[in-house]
Amino acid sequence: MPKIVIAIDGHSSCGKSTTAKAVAARMGYGYIDTGAMYRAVTLFFTQERISLTNPREINAALDAIHITFNHNSRTGKNETCLNGLNVEEEIRKMYISNLVSEVSVIPEVRRAMVAQQQRMGRRRGVVMDGRDIGTKVFPDAEVKVFMTAETLIRAKRRQQELLAKGELINLDDIVENLKKRDFIDSTRAESPLIQAPDAILLDTSYMTIEEQVDWVIEQADRRLAQL
Ligand code: DC
Repeated sequence: MPKIVIAIDGHSSCGKSTTAKAVAARMGYGYIDTGAMYRAVTLFFTQERISLTNPREINAALDAIHITFNHNSRTGKNETCLNGLNVEEEIRKMYISNLVSEVSVIPEVRRAMVAQQQRMGRRRGVVMDGRDIGTKVFPDAEVKVFMTAETLIRAKRRQQELLAKGELINLDDIVENLKKRDFIDSTRAESPLIQAPDAILLDTSYMTIEEQVDWVIEQADRRLAQL
């Protein structure tokens, strides 16, 4: 059976990661959360007080960053590691969400992350979620999905996720963060968030996770049958 690349791009908090993770598990594929990589870079830049306008400082910092994913067999969860340290919880916090779009517009950051993502998926058999997977990282991905959902629905889902982790955030603040991130992500010069011409649109506003996963698997099966 040939292995393919499944690219899942789209707006923030519309269920990309949850869907991608479940699709990867069901297909026996690897899962790569590219947003987590930009979040880890943001955490490093914050900790080391890297100037976002100094390319030399940025390049030196990027050379010192090593991002890996670790599957914790005890918890069954994927962990993002920054230089060997599990930062999974830290990178999901609101202060990182508020900064990440500004870090991910930096061309040097994008270049380094895209190169690493391409290396991670070179053997195919991966589900990758992000903003530019189908347009920039794997323009030849066999399945491309562009996910979206209504802003208020996305904000409520995000609020529940944060609450489950003990962070109580006002709904208006989340709406504002999502809108701001969508705006920066879609209007940036380098690899903006846009639907690839050959990507299939999936509006998850009124879908369950199960339905989303089944839908993506159906697209993958259909594509695999053509190979
Ligand atoms: O998927 P997420 O919300 O965890 O992503 C965090 C941020 O990272 C998002 O606001 C934009 C950026 N990002 C990106 O620019 N390109 C990607 N491939 C993935 C994420």
